[in-house]
Amino acid sequence: MEEGKTNKIKFERRCPGIGEFLAYTSVVVVACAVIVPLELKYGYSSRVFNSFHMQSTNDDSVLHTLINILGLFKKPAAQQPSTGKRIFTKEEIRQYSGEVEGKPIYLAYLGKVYDVTTGKQHYGKDGAYHFFAGKDASRAYVSGQFNDEGLIDDISGLPAGQYSGLKGWTDTFENKYPFVGKLEGFFYDSNGNEKEGIAIYRQGLIEASKFEAEEKDDEKKFPGCNSRYTPQTGHEIWCSTNSGAVDRDWTGYPRKFFKPGRTNFRCACVPKALLSDPRFKEFDGCPTDSVKCKLVQ
Ligand code: HEM
Repeated sequence: MEEGKTNKIKFERRCPGIGEFLAYTSVVVVACAVIVPLELKYGYSSRVFNSFHMQSTNDDSVLHTLINILGLFKKPAAQQPSTGKRIFTKEEIRQYSGEVEGKPIYLAYLGKVYDVTTGKQHYGKDGAYHFFAGKDASRAYVSGQFNDEGLIDDISGLPAGQYSGLKGWTDTFENKYPFVGKLEGFFYDSNGNEKEGIAIYRQGLIEASKFEAEEKDDEKKFPGCNSRYTPQTGHEIWCSTNSGAVDRDWTGYPRKFFKPGRTNFRCACVPKALLSDPRFKEFDGCPTDSVKCKLVQ
């Protein structure tokens, strides 16, 4: 740099030549040819408008605007990997029940919302499990009550044996579908904090594991019956010294075994000394002291 001279940067206002003018014009024409049909199909106008608006002060606005517009046609935000922070209301999640073609399908299980769009064959509007979409129907996964009364999130008061069934479904959803948020309802409040429903679920799991331990114990004390069906003899049940896969030195008498926490009974071989226990009921048409019974149809 020469002494005495300052280093000035000169700003010049340039008029575009005819070549540049034609280049800019053709970029705009091509961009419009792409945008107009997409706009008509997908309705991106507000986002396109914003990008024009943001870039309009730069000299390179045409190029940047085009890049920006092309960026807009990447995957819509709803399909980007989710942080799982969204809190849904029951009304919001209902919008994702698979009724609208092209919209993701969400369901909630134990208050957590999953994107089950890839399971469209189950949850879409023609799927066998469509009634689970757009809501939290946790109770019905174990009760099997698939009507309005049963398709609810309230899991309180279930038989003890059913809480472990709830856990099984959690594993399915966690492993198979993306988690997208929480639902305000029985399990979480409007800030995503745990509510009483989570405590009921945890307590239910504790009860379920006690129940299962008792079941194992009962299977030894009151082993299962043998059973057989043929068109000639009909349905027969009987006890033996190895029925229920329990080897023993007593046979027992076949009884219906009703247990709190179970919704149905099973056939148990009961030792004579315990026949008066109120959990055991005789089979219709089966003599009290018979080890073999023909079931009445
Ligand atoms: C309480 C009773 C039942 C409930 C709550 C239930 C629920 C479900 C759900 C939620 C799915 C989809 C799972 C996923 O997203 O991957 C499913 C799939 C399926 N269910 Fe059930 N189900 C029940 C009983 C049954 C029964 C009794 C049968 C057979 C007789 C059955 C056969 C199937 C089959 C074949 C599939 C497809 C499996 C696959 O494509 O991977 N379900 N069930």
